[in-house]
Amino acid sequence: MSEQPVQDRIRKLRAAIERHNDLYYGANQPEISDRDYDRLYHELEDLEKQYSQFLTPDSPTQRVGTNQRLGGTPLTAFEQVRHRLPMMSLDNTYSQAELTNFHERLMRLLPGQVFTYIMEPKIDGVAIALRYEHGRLVTGSTRGDGAVGDNITANLRTIHSIPLTLRGERPPPAVLEVRGEVYMTRDGFVAINKTREEAGEEPFANPRNAAAGSLKLLDSRQVARRPLDVIIYGVGELEGIAFDTHAQMLAALKTFGLKIPGKFWPCRSMDAVLVALEELKIMRHTFPFEIDGGVIKVNERAFYEKLGATAKSPRWAVAFKYESERAETRLKAITVQVGRTGVLTPVAELEPVALAGSTINRATLHNADEIKRKDIRVGDQVYVEKAGEVIPEVIGVNTAVRTGKERAFQMPDKCPVCGEPVTQREGEVAYRCENLQCPAQLKRWLRHFAARGAMDIEGLGEALVDQLVDANLVADPADLYRLRHESVAVLERMAAKSAQNLLGGIEASKQRDFWRVLFALGIRQVGAKMAQNLEQHYAGIEPLMQATPDELQQIRDMGPVAAKNIFDYFQVARNRGLIQRLQKAGVNLKRTAGAAPKGGRLTGKVFVLTGALEHFSRDQSEQAIRALGGEISASVSKKTFGVVAGAEPGSKLAKAKTLGVKIMNEAEFEKLIRS
Ligand code: IVH
Repeated sequence: MSEQPVQDRIRKLRAAIERHNDLYYGANQPEISDRDYDRLYHELEDLEKQYSQFLTPDSPTQRVGTNQRLGGTPLTAFEQVRHRLPMMSLDNTYSQAELTNFHERLMRLLPGQVFTYIMEPKIDGVAIALRYEHGRLVTGSTRGDGAVGDNITANLRTIHSIPLTLRGERPPPAVLEVRGEVYMTRDGFVAINKTREEAGEEPFANPRNAAAGSLKLLDSRQVARRPLDVIIYGVGELEGIAFDTHAQMLAALKTFGLKIPGKFWPCRSMDAVLVALEELKIMRHTFPFEIDGGVIKVNERAFYEKLGATAKSPRWAVAFKYESERAETRLKAITVQVGRTGVLTPVAELEPVALAGSTINRATLHNADEIKRKDIRVGDQVYVEKAGEVIPEVIGVNTAVRTGKERAFQMPDKCPVCGEPVTQREGEVAYRCENLQCPAQLKRWLRHFAARGAMDIEGLGEALVDQLVDANLVADPADLYRLRHESVAVLERMAAKSAQNLLGGIEASKQRDFWRVLFALGIRQVGAKMAQNLEQHYAGIEPLMQATPDELQQIRDMGPVAAKNIFDYFQVARNRGLIQRLQKAGVNLKRTAGAAPKGGRLTGKVFVLTGALEHFSRDQSEQAIRALGGEISASVSKKTFGVVAGAEPGSKLAKAKTLGVKIMNEAEFEKLIRS
């Protein structure tokens, strides 16, 4: 092949793989099967091997975490990394006077010397270190206690702006350790919280917590789905490279392909720093991420050693923190919102007030405990701030102006939407409405029930769910199976044909696998995978309903909380009633033939499949394994009994080899299941 077409093909493959990575990890909505993805990936890998002149560090093949679509095993804990040079912190200043003190101290310590400053935005994220040896990223770590941090290399490698290999013309230094901040954008934060709330998980309080929480995940495939980014603003250990000034260092880091602050201010004097800080204060809201101040650094690195450090921070740098903008206003009332997961959130109804560029009239009060802790009463003059610049929050009370007429808040004991009793689970601060029929939750539940991954009811989309609930035709999923043509056909925009389609889709869903029904029920913490595991252990709904938490905990991947949730679910009379009605309607609540009988020949054995077999589709081979009591896992670990490798196997095969896991070809696999 001549080189041009090869280069074109490589470019196309890279773009396609990046796009599928985004769909898979970002939107969580893959368009192609793992097998097709692996095929693209291997074609690229082969071309890059053959034409190594075209291999560049930004190729998706060079990024761990996204190249192994389903590979990679979660860690059980992070290893520790000792920082060769401590990762220090900064002293904070809040006023011009404190900055002047800082400047005067420098003048005293550097008599007669000329020095200048660089002022950079202070990014509100998580400090990290990246160690490059001869241009290759070898370790990424958290700050930890400054001396020892967590080795989070696998997680950091998922962040696209962290080069895995340093770029640029000049040969890379023997050691280049850089330091920076991992952050989440405001938009990313809002999006991730939405997903979490929909999944019934606790939302993050602010973008910084979201970034920190993401970096702590032990499974880098999950980290890859989090919208994280990085900015590099400093260096640690260096070998084979040196910089005279901070500005020169930033420029060099940039040529290596590292992402440095998009804006920074070289300043000849402290006065110039003050002007720059004012400028940043105004423009900081225009950054897509949170900035909680500025960092002022001496530009001339030659002075750093002389200036030294205190116990916690270097003397050549200081942080200046902006006061978060705050307003005072009257708390007119406290209302209670019911989220889509049933959590009750108290909301402050405020006298409108201007704050950080907008007028606010509502703010979150988080939960009842927070209200009690801050002693917030209806009628109070309260202080509001934007929590991490995103959501307004009531942070306290101006008690000096209390009249005595203010009233303490009481969490309602009935759901304000449906009137059912509200509960507080052991160990949780949240109050919840557990009534799945509560209109606040019902629509969401029905959408989940009908979704492709669950009961896959064709024709039952979001708009139709809304219509059915609003017309009081459906109050829980079992009602779907009682719908009549006459009642559906009269809905707005519903043609006779689509009514027929809908009823056909509902009818067909009665034959879905047992695990799909379990997943569709929306039991907390029972995702599709867990539902499949449940199906492997229980032949039908009856034995499952009788399982104790202890029994449930014997199941693969089942923790005590999930076991308790499942057990509790079946104790609720309404849930038992729902199941009865589904059963009556003819919905399948038994393990279908092909699923695992207990005590099968492969019971307890975990298999991983990779590549294509000639005589079995992926579904067929999975079913064959399950029928004999075996389990399927997406990733290879030491616990894997065997990897069945077909044509064009993925990275799972390599993983199996390194772990010494048994590898079977198609003939061996066939023999195993037929014997
Ligand atoms: S320089 C010796 N520059 O703020 C410490 N830090 O409050 C050198 N931070 O631990 C830090 N943006 O995590 C520096 N432009 C910036 C920064 C920055 C955010 C963080 C960093 C540091 C913390 C100190």
